[in-house]
Amino acid sequence: MTKILFVCLGNICRSPMAEFVMRDLVRRAGLEDRFLIASAATSGEERGNPVYPPARRKLAEHGISCAGKTSRQLMREDYGAWDLLIGMDTDNLRGMGRICGGDPEGKFRLLLDYTDRPGSVADPWYTGDFERTWQDVEAGCRGLLEALKRAGSV
Ligand code: 4NP
Repeated sequence: MTKILFVCLGNICRSPMAEFVMRDLVRRAGLEDRFLIASAATSGEERGNPVYPPARRKLAEHGISCAGKTSRQLMREDYGAWDLLIGMDTDNLRGMGRICGGDPEGKFRLLLDYTDRPGSVADPWYTGDFERTWQDVEAGCRGLLEALKRAGSV
C-alpha cells in the first residue's frame, strides 16, 4: 500500500485537484487497491470548505468528480501516517516542515519534481489560470505514478 498526501495552502484548489487526478489515474491503471490518496492544507483558513468552483469545474471537464471533499488542515500526526507528502510549491514545503516538525524520514516532495519542469505549481487562487494548474497537476501525477512503477513500489 502506498499512501500519498497532497498538500497546498488552502486545500481547495491545487491539492484536491492532485488528489482526484491521482485517484483517477490509479483507478484507470487498475491499481486502486494499492493506494491511499488524500489531500490537506498547511493553512486552516479554508477548513471545512468544499473544492473551489473553478477547480471543481476543471476536474469535471475531464470527467473527474471531487464530490464530498472539504478542506482539512495538515496535522503533525500525518507525518507518520503517509509515505509521501507532496507539496505544490516551496512555501507549502516550509509549512509542512513547520507543522510536522521537519522531514526526518525524507518523505517530502514537490509535485513538479516528477516532471521535466521541476518547480512550483502556481497558485490559481492568485493567477486565476486553472487550465495551467490542470496541466501541471496532470503532468505531476502521471510522472508520480510512472516513478512509483519504475521503483517497483506498485
Ligand atoms: P490552494 O489555493 O492552496 O491551491 O488551495 C488557495 C486557496 C485559498 C487561499 C490560498 C490559496 N486562501 O488564502 O484562502
